[in-house]
Amino acid sequence: ALKDETVVVVLGASGDLAKKKTFPALFALFAQGLLPKDVHIVGYARTKMDEAEFHKRETQYLKGDDSKIEEFKKISSYISGQYDGDEGFQELLKHLEKLEGDRKTKNRVFYMALPPSVFTTVAKGLKKNVYSEDGINRIIVEKPFGKDLESCREMMSELKAQWSENETYRIDHYLGKEMVKNLLILRFGNVFLDAAFNKNFVSNVQITFKEPFGTEGRGGYFDEFGIIRDVCQNHLLQTLSILAMERPVSFSAEDIRDEKVKVLRSIPAIAQKDVLLGQYVGEGDKPGYLDDDTVPKGSVCPTFAAMTLWVNNPRWEGVPFIMKAGKALNESKVEIRVQFKDALQGIFTDIPRNELVMRIQPSEAVYLKMNAKLPGFATRAVPTELDLTYKKRFVDTNIPQAYEALILDAFKGDHSNFVRDDELDVAWKIFTPILHWIDGKDAPKPEPYPYGSRGPKQIDEFTSKYGYKRSPQE
Ligand code: BG6
Repeated sequence: ALKDETVVVVLGASGDLAKKKTFPALFALFAQGLLPKDVHIVGYARTKMDEAEFHKRETQYLKGDDSKIEEFKKISSYISGQYDGDEGFQELLKHLEKLEGDRKTKNRVFYMALPPSVFTTVAKGLKKNVYSEDGINRIIVEKPFGKDLESCREMMSELKAQWSENETYRIDHYLGKEMVKNLLILRFGNVFLDAAFNKNFVSNVQITFKEPFGTEGRGGYFDEFGIIRDVCQNHLLQTLSILAMERPVSFSAEDIRDEKVKVLRSIPAIAQKDVLLGQYVGEGDKPGYLDDDTVPKGSVCPTFAAMTLWVNNPRWEGVPFIMKAGKALNESKVEIRVQFKDALQGIFTDIPRNELVMRIQPSEAVYLKMNAKLPGFATRAVPTELDLTYKKRFVDTNIPQAYEALILDAFKGDHSNFVRDDELDVAWKIFTPILHWIDGKDAPKPEPYPYGSRGPKQIDEFTSKYGYKRSPQE
């Protein structure tokens, strides 16, 4: 673990990701005393600016008391330079050496908050010029990792030529979310859940991602990727893999990731017939996707997708895993919903199904929909909930932000919540065929849905086709 004498270099320091996620996470760790001792933070980007201007940007989204922010500024500095060639990186090296002084260990963590176009060039430049021979080196990288299986492999092999798997930390920030991290304990630490988590008891599983805003302002980026590459192939599939995997041999990073890879390998590529695509259109004063000037005219890029995946192993064979994700929908919500099979009807007529819901955000919660007798003289069943809402049960407990948790793990050298190269490979295998179909000249036309709605009108028909029964309360 990196306990002291570490320099963190944030590449792409003038960009949005750095400003909104990386610096706030670093600051939160700093304020809680969780960063290594004697840490320095160095921003690096092409933009020329003086230290004052950099500090202004660096601290724009920080939350905390002013004196801590001042302290944080004191350990932060900035160097501008190019992403290609050696010159900029040589300057960076000089700067690091100045900060490191006569330290014996020179640990360097490189956080790549960069667009994919310069990513491998920078990884090479860093290795060549700024790699520490007297300490630990780590490189933290984040999606997009290519656009399909082939481009991902190309990118990974270029990266691997420079940085070992052990030095590489691939972020999928969903793996840092409290509720996703909770899955292991929920599933394997509760005997009744463990016993019921299989095809004998589960009818269908839904993993839902909903955002109430469109792609305003990042239409250009989004149009190249679409909702499937943006959140399904990574965030939602990672969540699914932990939800569906077998119990790992231990909590170690390799044991956990071995099981994730194994379950992912049993998922065949998604079939065209199991896909429903949508694109939002304007509603009231809210613009449609195509109204964004940065979006190419007539684009058929999906902003909504529902897909069914099948896990062909003894535990899950035949159970549909429905993934739904969309922008510009009616609410902000990410949840996993495991719907159990019907109770034996025998003495009942139409008793609702049990459902286990794990709400990832907002307001973390786990609740189990179950039937109970309506209190009173008559014997009547009523749907109720066993409700574990975190705000109520863990009052005043700080739930760390995903990026804080992950950056801390990277300092500790714990890879459990980072994506291993073989995971990435299988993840792309599952999605590449439908992505090529969607990108190709036979691209299906996405179904329109109004901004702020629940998605294309076919959505309920889609989920019910895979056995989902809406409960009477909804
Ligand atoms: C990012 C996507 O990876 O995840 C965004 O590029 C999306 O489009 C975001 O909004 C969602 O993350 P979160 O943490 O807000 O659920």
